Order: sequence, then structure tokens, then C-alpha cells
Amino acid sequence: MRELKILAVVVFFSLLVYVLVEPFAHSQMHKHVEGHNFVYTGEADIVQASKEKKETKKKFWSDVKKIASIKGDVKAGEAVFANCVACHNGANVNMGGVIPPKLDHAGSIYDKNYLIALIKDPAMASNVDHKYEDTSTHPMGSVKFTVNSDKDIADVVAYMLVHKAGEATPKEAYEEACVRCHAMRYDKLTQLGETPGFKYEKDALAHKIKVLEEQEKVKTYMGKLPPDLSMIIRARSENFLETFIENPQSQLPGTSMPRVGLSKEGYEKVKAYLTAIGDPSKPERERLGPWVIGFFIIFSILAYLWKKEKWRGHY
Ligand code: HEC
Ligand code: HEC
Repeated sequence: MRELKILAVVVFFSLLVYVLVEPFAHSQMHKHVEGHNFVYTGEADIVQASKEKKETKKKFWSDVKKIASIKGDVKAGEAVFANCVACHNGANVNMGGVIPPKLDHAGSIYDKNYLIALIKDPAMASNVDHKYEDTSTHPMGSVKFTVNSDKDIADVVAYMLVHKAGEATPKEAYEEACVRCHAMRYDKLTQLGETPGFKYEKDALAHKIKVLEEQEKVKTYMGKLPPDLSMIIRARSENFLETFIENPQSQLPGTSMPRVGLSKEGYEKVKAYLTAIGDPSKPERERLGPWVIGFFIIFSILAYLWKKEKWRGHY
């Protein structure tokens, strides 16, 4: 009986730590930020904006809402999309700080309202307008002069939601949304994309130099080199990642990381990729967990019975 009491005490204190103390300590160390389920209405931006900026932001997001209610014409949108391809052409050339990403799955990995906002004013959409005197100097800012009517915006977004909305693999989602800034060295990705295999050392070194040059440009644009994300899934909590990616300013006010505008689906894809690379044994662990616990329970019962048998008659 004594053993059972000791066991009960151990279990009680373990549960106490696990259920109460740990979460409490965690909540004291990391503030909990409420997410908005990857829906972009500008609400958080308006709340956070300085007094002078509030009205501009309100007007901007209410215009976005208005455009979202216009029914876009997919065919007309295809023609407007030609303006985007001028920069988003897969040429892997840096433009004003980063390489413009591929848009192959833009209609599914980004939120519709966010896309509208982005085309209307990229700096406002990604919540980094405070970095610009004139937001049209943002690397994508000149889009305002070529795609400038509400109808054009509605059309091109309608086009993307139909023709650029295939299901992305987790890796494609990462390559389109994050890799221009964040390398993933455990998967041989740099800001230039996939690192090819080289036969000669000389070519490998030449590639390395190109990567360093690209990183210099990203660094100049962002003020610091965005970190490699190979291990981030283990280093940060789910709530941090989710809310930070949805709205970087909510977790790190003043950070230069722009909001990326992922939809819920896009975020799940990116998260799946971060997990597959940073924590590849997770599915295996989850599969084995119940078996290991089962083993210990059976083992404890046997050990207890064995002990009882051995000590019979000793008290
Ligand atoms: C002048 C060049 C240029 C033009 C024109 C342009 N873009 Fe971009 N686009 C960029 C650059 C550069 C970035 C990366 C910006 C960054 O990461 O800060 C970008 C980023 C994006 C992103 C990623 C969104 C995000 O916030 O992560 C999407 C989606 C996008 N552009 C869509 C479009 C669409 C749609 C059009 C046409 C209506 C377009 N772009 C026109 C240069 C351009
Ligand atoms: C235009 C560049 C850019 C893009 C695109 C971008 N980031 Fe970032 N990211 C940054 C910068 C810069 C920082 C560093 C922020 C700081 O320290 O203030 C950062 C920081 C982070 C951090 C925080 C790391 C930490 O130490 O806490 C995470 C997580 C992150 N990014 C995830 C992502 C993901 C996921 C994507 C794609 C969906 C992405 N980022 C797209 C520029 C970018």
C-alpha cells in the first residue's frame, strides 16, 4: 500500500506542475496574442496606428472592403496580370531588396482581401508603411501606377483566385512566401532558392558568393538578415508562430518583417514545411508515444507484483 501512496504523491505533483505551473510560467514569459484566423481587415493595424495615421488606415481598409465586393472579371484580369509578370517573372533577379516571388499558387496561399490590399498599396497591406515617406517607393510600390482602378484590382484578383490557385506543396508555399528573405539550410534553400549540386568546387564557391551578395541586398532592405528558419518550429511556440506570421507587428512592434498575407490554408502549408524540415521525427514520436506509455504501465504493474511476491511474509 505504501508504494501506491508514494506513486499517488508523485503523480499528483507531476500533474500540478504540468497543468498549472508550466502554463503559468509560460504565459508570464511570452505574452499571448490573439490571432484573427488569417483574415485581413486592417482592424489590428488601425488599433495600433499612431493618431495621424489612423484615418488613412481606416480609409485604406474600407476601400479594400469595397473592392472585395466588386465581382471581378477573370478574362479581363488575365490581361491586367501581364503588369505583374513584368516583375514576377521567375528570373531570380533582385528588385529593390528581394527577388519577387513566384505567384503560381498566390490565389490559394494568400488571403483574398490581402491580395486586394497588396495591389492597392503594398506597404500599407504589409503594415510597413511607417518605413516610407512615399509608399510608392516600396519595391512593389509602382504597381499603383499600372494597376490603378478598383476594377483592375478586382479583375486581377479574380483571375488569380481561378488560375493561380492550384494546391501548393508545403515546400512550394515556403518558396513562394518566405524564401526570398529566409534561408532553410537544412533543406539546402537559400535566398536564391534551391542550391544545385556542383561537380566542381569552383562552381560551388561561385554560387556561395552569389548567395552572399543576395543576402547583402536583403540585409540592406530589412536592416538585418532575416534568420534561417530550419529550427524555428522547435524554438517558438505555436501561438507565437501563428500570430507573428499573421501580423509581425503584434509580437515584435517595430519589426521590419512585412506581413506576408497568408491565408489559413497557406499558413498550414508553411507550418507543415517548417515541421517536416525542423522536426522530422514528430510523426514517429506521436505514433510511438502511446505504445511507450502503455509499456511503462504494464511494466510497473509487473514490477509491483514481482516485488509483492518476493517480499511476501517479510513484514
Ligand atoms: C515593380 C515590380 C513589381 C510589380 C509590378 C508587382 N510586384 Fe508583386 N512583388 C514585388 C516585390 C519586389 C515583392 C516582394 C516584396 C517584399 O517582400 O517586401 C512582391 C511581392 C508580391 C507578393 C507576395 C506578397 C507578400 O506580401 O508576401 C504577391 C502576392 C505579389 N507581389 C503579387 C503581385 C501582383 C498580383 C502584381 C500585379 C498586380 C504584382 N505583384 C506586381 C514586385 C512587383
Ligand atoms: C521581406 C522579407 C521577409 C519575408 C518575406 C518573411 N520574413 Fe520572416 N522575418 C524577416 C525579418 C527581417 C525578420 C527579423 C525580424 C526582427 O528581428 O525584427 C523575420 C523574422 C521572422 C521570424 C522570427 C524569428 C525569431 O527569432 O523569432 C519568423 C518566425 C519568421 N520571420 C517567419 C517567416 C515566415 C514563415 C515567412 C513566410 C510565410 C516569412 N517570415 C517571410 C523578413 C521576412
